[in-house]
Amino acid sequence: MFPRSKPECEKAQAHNISRCCNAIRGLKIICLVLPLLFSSSCAQEMMNQKRVDPQEATAAWGNRSSMRALPAHTVPAKESIMDQMGGPHATLWQARSPAEEILPPDKIDESNLPDIPATLNDSHNLLETVQRGQNRFQIWCTPCHGQLGNGNGEVARRGYYYPASFHTPRLRAKSLGYFFEVITQGKKHMPAYRFMIPPDDRWAIAVYLRALQFSQHAPESMLTETDLNQLKTKP
Ligand code: HEC
Repeated sequence: MFPRSKPECEKAQAHNISRCCNAIRGLKIICLVLPLLFSSSCAQEMMNQKRVDPQEATAAWGNRSSMRALPAHTVPAKESIMDQMGGPHATLWQARSPAEEILPPDKIDESNLPDIPATLNDSHNLLETVQRGQNRFQIWCTPCHGQLGNGNGEVARRGYYYPASFHTPRLRAKSLGYFFEVITQGKKHMPAYRFMIPPDDRWAIAVYLRALQFSQHAPESMLTETDLNQLKTKP
């Protein structure tokens, strides 16, 4: 039925508008309530998902224990950095006899520095030695010295002493034997690593340290013609 007179028309219009408003209001309520319904069902699912409680048995592992044993040489992270550095905290850091319990020296005695074993330094094994050194350096040294060896490691940035950068004229002039001794004995605030890094790995790290130094500062006289040409070509 269509309204015919003007007042009838106006009445019908007003009626339609109010119906339209009601529909929009209804939609708004649905839009608000729907996400609430979904979010509550999500929370429920997360609470009920599969998991093992502490000490609960599991069929996943042979010994039926859901708690996994810590990997060997795991270091507790609870103590403050100063505690860790001031006193050995894991068996790894412990000297095996009181005679070995020497604090790192303030200065390395440079009168009798050792030489790298020829087997690690010969041209057949050199690449292998550098790669081994890179691998060990990244594990043992980057926390304080940083990937580049500029002394900007995470441990230093979180409050430990900032180590010197390896890219200074003084350290560029040091021999591999000097680096080996710093790793072996430690120096001032740097702990000794002789208990956890075997000698061949200490040498490999020393060799890598030299490679790191060259990565930032290689004398032109050491470069081949191909290297020099590459340097001259614009990227
Ligand atoms: C716990 C932090 C820490 C770690 C890990 C660490 N160092 Fe150091 N290192 C230092 C600090 C601090 C110094 C500065 C020592 C000082 O006060 O003379 C330093 C100094 C040095 C120096 C320079 C010595 C000098 O004459 O100035 C060398 C080389 C060095 N470290 C090599 C290494 C190598 C290689 C490793 C890995 C095997 C390593 N460090 C691991 C903290 C660390």
